Amino acid sequence: MHFQWYPGHMTKAKRMMQENIKLIDLVIELVDARVPLASRNPDIDELGKNKARLILLNKADLAEDRWNEEWKAYFEKQGFSCVKVNSKKGGGLKSIQNVIQEACREKIERDRKKGILNRPVRAMVVGIPNVGKSTFINTLAGKAAAKTGNKPGVTKGKQWIRLNKQVELLDTPGILWPKFEDQSVGLKLAFIGSIKDEILNVEELGAEFIRFANQAYPGILAEKYGIEEAEDSYVCLNRIAESRHCLVRGNELDTEKAAGLLMDDFRNGRLGRLTLEYPE
Ligand code: G4P
Repeated sequence: MHFQWYPGHMTKAKRMMQENIKLIDLVIELVDARVPLASRNPDIDELGKNKARLILLNKADLAEDRWNEEWKAYFEKQGFSCVKVNSKKGGGLKSIQNVIQEACREKIERDRKKGILNRPVRAMVVGIPNVGKSTFINTLAGKAAAKTGNKPGVTKGKQWIRLNKQVELLDTPGILWPKFEDQSVGLKLAFIGSIKDEILNVEELGAEFIRFANQAYPGILAEKYGIEEAEDSYVCLNRIAESRHCLVRGNELDTEKAAGLLMDDFRNGRLGRLTLEYPE
């Protein structure tokens, strides 16, 4: 399986982010808790240098909690603030206000020394597609948040959402494109749905996923689909098709449909909480 990327997208997105990043104090980077490294774009470290940094392990509800904890410790050890969140349900968001203040303590202190008091921290949400940026902004901002509109000195057209007296959030997230040479990273991103299925062979993806699941979570497919697991992932895929009555032309097994169904079950947490990569 081979994935390809379009540099055009990346340069444009990067330029936009460079422009926006000048306006902010804090970068809130969303990663997918199931693949916290594969879902990062390494450019962000360069773009966000000299800024306070907060990493959110989003979709923490879909990943194993013991690994969420390990990843949190991993990022904290590297000097990032880190919080586990479920943006969809709001889990973990309560603690974020405090963590933001803590992450920006140096900046607040610098302001104070210059006699600037109570200037809100300005933050921007960034992350690869589908990681949950819009969901996070909407859930965090909620209905109560007022858009502050254009402000003097700020590039025209930028909209800020006032979360409270202490924090303002840029309303448009920064989109980073996944970046990888290692195809196993691409595969993980395909599993979580960050690479559009249209450019992939779903059947092949399903077979790769089965290979991963059988190794990392033996028994999980047997339990979910009532099948006997097999060494050969295509045999397994056939069995899933059989068990889920995925048929074409009457009685031929529709493995493409079965693979789609399998990926959908995984992405929506119906196979349970699964983590696909682990800290060193
Ligand atoms: P983006 O802006 O970064 O591209 O991502 P977006 O917010 O559109 O979220 C992508 C998908 O991820 C959405 O699902 C969203 O509901 C889901 N999502 C976001 N945060 C979380 C989380 O913390 N936990 C879980 N379980 N899901 C999350 P969708 O299928 O595209 O839409 P919908 O079916 O939820 O409406």
